[in-house]
Amino acid sequence: MKERIELLEKELENFSIKTKEELENFRLRFLTKKGEINALFEDFKKVPKEEKKVFGQLINEIKQKAQQLYESFQGEEEVNSEKKDFSLPGQNIEIGSRHPLSIVQNEMISILEKMGFDLSIGPEIEDDWHNFSALNFPENHPARDMQDTFFIEEGISLRTHTSSVQVRVMEQENPPIRTISPGRVYRNEAISARSNSFFHQVEGLYIDEGVSFADLKQTLFLFVQQFFGEGTDVRFRPSYFPFTEPSAEMDIYLGTETEEDYRLTKGTGWLEILGCGMVDVNVLENCGIDSKKYSGFAFGMGVERIAMFKYGIKDIRTLFENDKRFLEQFSSLGNGM
Ligand code: DAH
Repeated sequence: MKERIELLEKELENFSIKTKEELENFRLRFLTKKGEINALFEDFKKVPKEEKKVFGQLINEIKQKAQQLYESFQGEEEVNSEKKDFSLPGQNIEIGSRHPLSIVQNEMISILEKMGFDLSIGPEIEDDWHNFSALNFPENHPARDMQDTFFIEEGISLRTHTSSVQVRVMEQENPPIRTISPGRVYRNEAISARSNSFFHQVEGLYIDEGVSFADLKQTLFLFVQQFFGEGTDVRFRPSYFPFTEPSAEMDIYLGTETEEDYRLTKGTGWLEILGCGMVDVNVLENCGIDSKKYSGFAFGMGVERIAMFKYGIKDIRTLFENDKRFLEQFSSLGNGM
């Protein structure tokens, strides 16, 4: 018995383990139930009583030794096979980020919500009534050509503006109404650096007793101060929309000092950011609102235009290509919402 133990000990020491396979052979040979060490325990049963103590100790020692050898080789194996270098920089965990359009849109919503506007959402596939007729676009009137439309079938199209949601809200709710409707709109236009076949708008609507053009100007002025910064100059220019009377467009003043501002404002210093006006009496009546009692204002702004100005984006198409190199530039902004 003594010799067997000594022999086994030598074998353990000389066993070379360089590969995973050899490590497994070692385990099978010495450490399993049918392995050589367990066999020693079988023989141990036959050892005379008075020698049990010495042999018991020897067998336990060799078992421990085999176990330790196995574990130490196992550790080494892992290190060798994975070639860990703890001085290497860690791997980046890639976390998604808000799209620049979402950042801008969320900021618009957050400012207007603080002023008391709630949110309303309408469908992107719209009928003629909500997109045109109720908004005072007469049938076959050239005003319909202001917006090139994607038709799905007779009388059904992709909405060309979020003004369609105004109609839905006015049909369903009684004044006072104070709501904004952000969403995607579609136009059948040639795609270029400045225009895309779909884009986003934020629509605003305020209907109550005695709402005046002064309220419209003050609301939009306050919005601009918060969105573009205190002291931003604005101006209103007369314009035309079928659904508002009077109608206006609002510009903000950028100046012409930088080449970029000169280019954006076509040398005038002023950048148009939205259309607005007092909701036309016909529109109120079309939506079941008593125009003798109530009046209101509406406005609609393009999200892309404002995002492009805010971040100096020169081509609208980059906003829709989902190129990570472009999107990653916005990853530190606007993760709050
Ligand atoms: N719907 C207009 C457009 O798409 C924008 C607009 C202008 C919306 C005036 C309004 C408004 O609510 O009052 O060009």
